[in-house]
Amino acid sequence: MDILLNAANAALHLAHDLRRDVEVGLLLLGPPNPPRFVRFEGFRLRNYQPDIRSNAALVRRALVDAYRIERESSPGVFGSQTDFEEALDRFGPVFVYAKEGGKDIRQASLPADATFVFSDNQDLMAAEERVLTERGALVVGLGPLALHTDHAIAILQNELDRRPV
Ligand SMILES: C[S@@+](CC[C@H](N)C(=O)[O-])C[C@H]1O[C@@H](n2cnc3c(N)ncnc32)[C@H](O)[C@@H]1O
Repeated sequence: MDILLNAANAALHLAHDLRRDVEVGLLLLGPPNPPRFVRFEGFRLRNYQPDIRSNAALVRRALVDAYRIERESSPGVFGSQTDFEEALDRFGPVFVYAKEGGKDIRQASLPADATFVFSDNQDLMAAEERVLTERGALVVGLGPLALHTDHAIAILQNELDRRPV
């Protein structure tokens, strides 16, 4: 949970504001009731803090009584029972997969309005990578070393911020 919450913070927070144009999806595949999917809409979030403990409460609320149809459990926070492929469908249709050893992001031409996929402390499973390949995901590397997910996201955001709109 810490990894996911820190990753969401890296994607959403600026020093003095939220990135209102960012959506984040957290896919939880552990027990007791997988899959669970929590989605944040930056432009609708109201009670989202830099402190991950407060945000854990938002996620916990979204995990209660989750169904296949999404439910907004607090402003900008949505919970559902959604697997990996369905989660991609909620975002899509253009995907970029951040993976060590992928094409250097500084040399890559990134699609507009892409959905960026990161794993947590374990790599994606082969079947999940296959799904991304089938969807034509571009695989990008962010640097020579393996980073924590939240750090990789912060670097990605910085690379995107530096590009002309
Ligand atoms: C902690 S890493 C995953 C496990 C990693 N393979 C290891 O050796 O521990 C977390 C995720 O952040 C992203 N990531 C980390 N470093 C990266 C890099 N140098 N380039 C691209 N993505 C990276 C990837 O999505 C990666 O799966």
